Amino acid sequence: MDTDELTYGSYLRVPELLALQQPRSEPPHPEELHFIVVHQALELWMKLLQHDLGRIVELLDGDGFGRALALLGRVNHTLEHALDQMRSLHSLPPWDLQQFRSYLGTASGSQSVQFRELELRSGLREPAYLKALEIEYGGRLPEPLATRLAQRSLAEAHAGAAARLGIDDLAGWADFYVDPGPRTDFYLVCEALVDYDERWIRWRQEHVALVQRTLGDHARGTGGMAIAYLQRTTRYRFFPVLWALRDELVVRGGGQLVRRPEHETS
Ligand code: HEM
Repeated sequence: MDTDELTYGSYLRVPELLALQQPRSEPPHPEELHFIVVHQALELWMKLLQHDLGRIVELLDGDGFGRALALLGRVNHTLEHALDQMRSLHSLPPWDLQQFRSYLGTASGSQSVQFRELELRSGLREPAYLKALEIEYGGRLPEPLATRLAQRSLAEAHAGAAARLGIDDLAGWADFYVDPGPRTDFYLVCEALVDYDERWIRWRQEHVALVQRTLGDHARGTGGMAIAYLQRTTRYRFFPVLWALRDELVVRGGGQLVRRPEHETS
């Protein structure tokens, strides 16, 4: 039997947690602790997101739209916190970053395994993205990423739920958005997924802005990438059909489209 009395510190492993922030600059630069805390905090929030995404996939597969919606609300709030916490790094003066940047070596956010796991579990399957992953890992995805790629994604669970309701093409999506009939619950799930996509877009855009204000437009990242690479990722969508159906609604509403790419019409 465990005779140690459980305390706040022992339950949450606070001593272990607080031992993990180890600035590498010598002597420690006063801004490096903030830099480490924000990155570690985001990894913790990513852990919770990953956990919740799996539960949402199961709920969607079981047509549990009400509970999926409640959990998606939490997930979307979590993404808000993550964005806010990254924003706190906007206070990092550009010269201060330069003073400890060399101590980061080749460590880069692009190596965040949890970030990639989230992209894959959410359902990002853009050819350009998959190609970049292949190049990054020399054609062999590390085990956690290969697992996420093989798992049922949020986008697949969403498409499956839609198919069970008879929605399987863009016209069907537009009909559903014009009048969800008795399935307002699923309509609200779809809009919560658009919120999810939107928060990711905002995270990517604000990360680009953060990089620009701390490193300018032309620096090479510690992972070797140019800022243009990060800018290209801002067009990724987990649920492209939920964005494409807006085009269809514009046309049905009597409006005109400026340009309608081939891949968005099917
Ligand atoms: C001053 C703060 C930051 C700077 C200057 C910065 C800089 C960069 C740069 C230059 C890249 C491109 C890859 C490379 O060559 O390294 C990158 C990628 C990345 N960073 Fe940051 N970053 C900052 C904060 C953060 C924070 C707080 C996170 C949160 C976890 C983060 C996560 C990522 C991720 C996930 C990528 C890969 C994005 C992708 O491939 O789509 N970064 N960062």
